[in-house]
Amino acid sequence: MRADLEMVKALLDGSRRVVVLTGAGISAESGVPTFRGRDGLWRNHRPEDLARPDAFEAHPDLVWEFYNWRRRLVAGCEPNPAHRALAELERVLPNFLLITQNVDGLHVRAGSRKLVQMHGSLWQVKCTVCTHAREDFGELPALPECPVCGHLLRPGVVWFGEPLVPGVLRIAIDRVSKADVFLAVGTSGLVQPAASFHQLAKDHGAVTVEVNLEPTPVSGFMDFALHGPAGEILPELIAGIADTASARSTGGGGR
Ligand code: OAD
Repeated sequence: MRADLEMVKALLDGSRRVVVLTGAGISAESGVPTFRGRDGLWRNHRPEDLARPDAFEAHPDLVWEFYNWRRRLVAGCEPNPAHRALAELERVLPNFLLITQNVDGLHVRAGSRKLVQMHGSLWQVKCTVCTHAREDFGELPALPECPVCGHLLRPGVVWFGEPLVPGVLRIAIDRVSKADVFLAVGTSGLVQPAASFHQLAKDHGAVTVEVNLEPTPVSGFMDFALHGPAGEILPELIAGIADTASARSTGGGGR
């Protein structure tokens, strides 16, 4: 693993276009439960059964209770060293994009700006009827109403069976297919379309790297699979690059 880590570090340092895809595992060390892990259940419901338009139509109170619980939980969490390492990587690499499936907003709080939130954000709410949408970090009522038309608001997240936010998939596919290095961090590789990105990257010549606590269904398809906590592996990967980038900027990097 040490040798692989050093090779990935060298690859990242020499690459021009890096795309990183993150999933729930990157926020696990901040205390945010993953979807499919041991702590993934919420009051005996699977998140996948609640994150759906039909569940919201049938039981808006239950779905809002789930989202209000997640908003409160995440509000009490802080970005961890893995989030901060990716914000640092963005700063030192010229062409970088972070694509996250997470809705928790921890990448933004860690300082990431070149970021696509594929599944929306827990901190967005939007009307189920009119075009009202807003960012809202406050405590919400059990069934929040639209201030414009009075109809029910819903979380500004993408649910199963819903299309992604317009434009998001186009940007993601474009950048993934131009990447030199594609890194998948803390994702089970089970939910489309993100689950196909490593293949798309590879088909276009990228080196693919997985960082995950344990092997996943896609580990065998990756050029490198680094197994361990993202909060330990990413800072190690980034440390070398940040050092050489600053050496280059002071003329000592030899490139
Ligand atoms: P999952 O819960 O499916 O997978 C989390 C992954 O993170 C697993 O592979 C874990 O092994 C790994 N993991 C856990 N702790 C880790 C750590 N400290 N360091 C590194 N890896 C760790 O979450 P996602 O793959 O993000 O979609 O799930 C994808 C989508 O399915 C979510 O965005 C959500 C969900 O249902 C929607 O809600 C639309």
